[in-house]
Amino acid sequence: MIRTLTIRRPDDWHLHLRDGAMLQGVLPESARHFARALVMPNLVPPVVTGADAAAYRDRIRAALPPGMAFDPRMTLYLTEATDPDDLAAAHASGLVTAVKLYPAGATTNSQSGVRDFDRIRPVLDRMADIGLPLCVHGEVTDPAIDIFDREAVFIDRVLDPIRRATPGLRVVMEHITTVEGVAYARSGGDDLAATITTHHLILNRNHILSGGIRPHYYCLPVAKRETHRLALRRAATSGEARFFLGTDSAPHVDALKEAACGCAGCFTATNTMQILAQVFEDESALDRLEGFTSLHGAAFYRLPPNAGTLTLTRGEPARWPERIVTGAGPVTVFDPGITVNWHVAG
Ligand code: NCD
Ligand code: ZN
Repeated sequence: MIRTLTIRRPDDWHLHLRDGAMLQGVLPESARHFARALVMPNLVPPVVTGADAAAYRDRIRAALPPGMAFDPRMTLYLTEATDPDDLAAAHASGLVTAVKLYPAGATTNSQSGVRDFDRIRPVLDRMADIGLPLCVHGEVTDPAIDIFDREAVFIDRVLDPIRRATPGLRVVMEHITTVEGVAYARSGGDDLAATITTHHLILNRNHILSGGIRPHYYCLPVAKRETHRLALRRAATSGEARFFLGTDSAPHVDALKEAACGCAGCFTATNTMQILAQVFEDESALDRLEGFTSLHGAAFYRLPPNAGTLTLTRGEPARWPERIVTGAGPVTVFDPGITVNWHVAG
């Protein structure tokens, strides 16, 4: 049995770091294991312009504890008013790695997102020209569509038409949760990829609702049936370069999670690597962990893999704090509900 595994230092290609006291509290949790992360722009107000992204990157760098290394890769929040020239300049200068599409109302802080997809056509054409990837929150917001069907319907109604209308556009389907998402990701060439979160490899919808409501398992897109979870596990551990890690670690203080109308998001920055090692071991795919966490995403974003390494060791059941303390309040760490025997060394 493998007891030690050394991999290239991983990247998190979908991360919420927030701002202010929350940023200060959660940033070390990611920087401890990850060299880089694609930082989501859904602040209030959102990160829309190159200037917004530069200022946010400065705040992230300033919040990093001395002695820790971390390279935040910035995203812009696509609105119907996004200026293609500003976006192209932010990309050309190396400031911005991707652009994030939130359908208006789909998730936390998405009210500035896109309502009329025809209005972003010039921006998408420009992105295709310059090779700037579009990261997509793939859920329709039509209240008539059942929340468990919103990803599959989005693929048919929005994503596929956008891709057909914009040849060459590089697209990442963020945090896929369904068999349909896996299949659609596989239908594309090397201009299409998909991120998968840690928690969607662990949770199905029973975990959220059976035996009581578990607010810390509520996230968007919401976890689906077991068949979908199994498809995600097969995709993540398949070794296919189109699938890579984006944790979607999304901290909210406990008071906002444990509420009559609780916020969506699972906080997995602290224990993602340990949990993933267990998942990959359980799927007899430990040799494919490095591709998923450290190679495939970098290749898609046309960046070199990280120079550093991360060593995981197998031993006693792993423990981590139930919650971390931040200046904004306590944040509960994701509980996978399985025994995790993997530790990050050092
Ligand atoms: C994210 C958040 O809290 O910002 N929540 C979540 O459940 N994933 C938003 C998002 O990525 O949808
Ligand atoms: Zn997210």
